[in-house]
Amino acid sequence: MNLPNILDARKRTDKKTEYIYLNEEYDKSTFSSKKYYLRTYGCQMNVHDSEEISAHLESIGFEKTDDLENADLVILNTCAIRENAHDKLYGFLGRCKHIKESINNNLIICICGCMAQEENVCKFIMEKHPYVDLVFGTHNIADLEKLLINKKDNKQNIEVYSCEGNVYENVKYHRDSNFKAWVNIQYGCDKFCTYCIVPYTRGKQRSRKSEDILKEVKELVKDGYKEVTLLGQNVNAYGKDLEGEVSFAELLQKVADTKIERVRFVTSHPWDFTDEMIDVIANNENIMNYIHLPLQSGSDRILKLMGRRYTKKEYIALFNKIKDKVENAAITTDIIVGFPNESEEDFNETLDVVNTCKFDSAFTFIYSKREGTPAAKMDDKVSLEEKEQRLYKLNEIINDYSLMNNQKYVGKTEKVLVEGVNDKDQTKLFGYTETMKLVNFTGDKDLIGKIINVEIIDAKSFSLDGKLKEE
Ligand code: 5AD
Ligand code: SF4
Repeated sequence: MNLPNILDARKRTDKKTEYIYLNEEYDKSTFSSKKYYLRTYGCQMNVHDSEEISAHLESIGFEKTDDLENADLVILNTCAIRENAHDKLYGFLGRCKHIKESINNNLIICICGCMAQEENVCKFIMEKHPYVDLVFGTHNIADLEKLLINKKDNKQNIEVYSCEGNVYENVKYHRDSNFKAWVNIQYGCDKFCTYCIVPYTRGKQRSRKSEDILKEVKELVKDGYKEVTLLGQNVNAYGKDLEGEVSFAELLQKVADTKIERVRFVTSHPWDFTDEMIDVIANNENIMNYIHLPLQSGSDRILKLMGRRYTKKEYIALFNKIKDKVENAAITTDIIVGFPNESEEDFNETLDVVNTCKFDSAFTFIYSKREGTPAAKMDDKVSLEEKEQRLYKLNEIINDYSLMNNQKYVGKTEKVLVEGVNDKDQTKLFGYTETMKLVNFTGDKDLIGKIINVEIIDAKSFSLDGKLKEE
């Protein structure tokens, strides 16, 4: 039993990151004919962690199922950022408990991910959810096989470490797609924005070695992958924690040199976004002209309280520089409304940036208090109702600009990587343009996984309609 602890999670020492090369092989018959059900909440990082979790489970014989009632093991990979994360988890746990009591007494229930790294969550699970079998954190995913093999019947085990973290290599992934792939380039975050729980749940910023990243990308190219997305909480800071390592701009160039057809990256912080990076993006056709650049707030007063390290003016200058240099760049953002004591003037400053930048789209959030972060101690006189009204107003404006930006595509021909069949209309396929616009169009399923030309015939706020271009 190891419980997380916020004081340890916040600690940053000069301890060097350990690079651990995994090489253990497990007996596939250990859990043969057993099925696992995996549910993922949250960001791309979590989605990719789930691909790793799947590979660990399959290495000891588990097979994947989408039928919860048929599962022998349920794993919930949680997110700690979203306001309703706790409600969602506990709601779903209720269903699992019911299944364990009425259908399958041997069901193993397991919680992992960012919420598992929270002290209060683990305490609550111990006290109120004794039927949960195993809780593990973001730092010990690689131990999953051992945790399950050594599991004692009916005994709850919580194994969550609050530490700076290591880097694991030779990690296997059960990738969801065979044409687009996530590639971690960096873990954790040292920015400590005052509202954000990530530096506590994911540990210190630690970069993978560029040689290991390039080896992974080259293997993906060899396996026919068309697109890689380089993942990190703050990719621009790549390499800064490693002596003698290349910068993010240099890494991007090296990844582009592998000739993979599409290179993407998330997330960039406006603070470390260098001119060199902009040049590399502008000069390489296979680096997509799509950039996610979180703004968070347009008010200098709030940005300072958030610890964001840039001003409204600096953000807009960077935005304009990218737009000037990278042809037809699409820029999206994240915005938080209702940070403690955000005034109407502060909010209007945010709207001012939105009206200046006219983002292609934005993820918008109402500030939610994360226990243990500095902002959680700030007093806040703004009512939730007021915050909801601001969010509503912001979303209306954002959606208008999304539509306006999308309309510029009508009549143009775009390269689309076809991802699959549209869920709501099975006669349609969907895919993404280089600028990350969702396009729906009619076409043959054989096109899935290919990059094709699609003529855009109509635009909505959240998607484009297209027509297959005859070659
Ligand atoms: N409250 C609201 N939104 C948050 N985000 C991160 N922490 C919080 C919080 N406490 C948002 C930020 C970040 C995105 C991933 O989630 O906008 O960029
Ligand atoms: Fe959180 Fe800020 Fe780090 Fe992003 S840069 S993960 S918002 S602390």
